[in-house]
Amino acid sequence: MTAAPITIALSKGRIYKDALPLLRHAGIEPVDDPETSRKLILDTNRKEVKFVIVRASDVPTYVQHGGADIGVAGKDVLMEHGGADLYEPLDLKIARCRLMVAGRRGSGGGAARTDGKRVRVATKYVNSTRHYFARQGAQVEIIKLYGSMELAPLVGMADCIVDLVDTGNTLKANGLEPLEHIADISSRLIVNKAAMKMKHETVKQLIDLIAQAVK
Ligand code: ATP
Ligand code: PRP
Repeated sequence: MTAAPITIALSKGRIYKDALPLLRHAGIEPVDDPETSRKLILDTNRKEVKFVIVRASDVPTYVQHGGADIGVAGKDVLMEHGGADLYEPLDLKIARCRLMVAGRRGSGGGAARTDGKRVRVATKYVNSTRHYFARQGAQVEIIKLYGSMELAPLVGMADCIVDLVDTGNTLKANGLEPLEHIADISSRLIVNKAAMKMKHETVKQLIDLIAQAVK
C-alpha cells in the first residue's frame, strides 16, 4: 500500500527549529529552508510529505480546515484557538515557557487596583486572559495587542500584561516582573479529525515515530 499524501503546517523560527529534529527522526527532511526560501509549500525527501509554512497563530486554523493534515502549535495558541475539530495526540515538549500575568516591578500585584476601577490587561491572548480572570472572579478590561505587550504598562496604557515568559529577561529588561502563573506551555502535535480517519495508517505511523523521538 502506498503512503497517503500528508501536509504538515509549521511556523518559521523557534517551532521550525525545534520540530525539525523530531521530524528527522520520523524520516522527514526538508529539501528547502524556510528561513531563506520564499516558498510557502516546501518539498521534503519524501515525495508524499510537504510542509506548509504559516504564522504560528494560524497553524490550528489550517489544520482545522484541512489546509494541512498535521501541525505543530504552541499550547498558548491552541488555548486561544479553542481546539475545535483538532486532535492533540502528542506533547512535543519543545518551545517550553509559561503564560503569565506580569506587571511593573514593585507595583504590588498586577490584577489589583485601589481606585475601584477595572484592571486593564494588555495581551494578545484575549480568550485565555478572559477565562483566567473570570475564574478568579475578577472583572478586567482586556486591551488586545499583537506584540510588544511589555510596553503597555510602561506607557500607562495597562496595569498588567498576559504574555509568555521563559528566562524572564524580556520582563526584566522592561522593568516588569512575573506575578501570576496561568499555564505551562509547550508545543503540541495537532491532527485534523478527518485526516486521522481517512489517512489513519500514515498519520498513526508518523505520530508513533515522533513520539519515540520525544522520548
Ligand atoms: P505569530 O507570528 O503568529 O504572531 P509568534 O511571533 O508568537 O507568532 P514565535 O515567537 O515563533 O511566534 O512563537 C511560537 C511559539 O513558541 C509560541 O506560540 C509559544 O508556544 C512558543 N514560545 C514563544 N516565545 C517563547 C519563548 N521565549 N521561549 C519558549 N517558547 C516560546
Ligand atoms: C516571546 C514572548 C516574550 C519573550 C519571553 O517573544 O512574547 O516577549 O519571548 O521570553 P524570555 O522570558 O526568555 O525573555 P519572542 O522572543 O518570541 O518575540 P516575538 O513574540 O516578538 O516574536
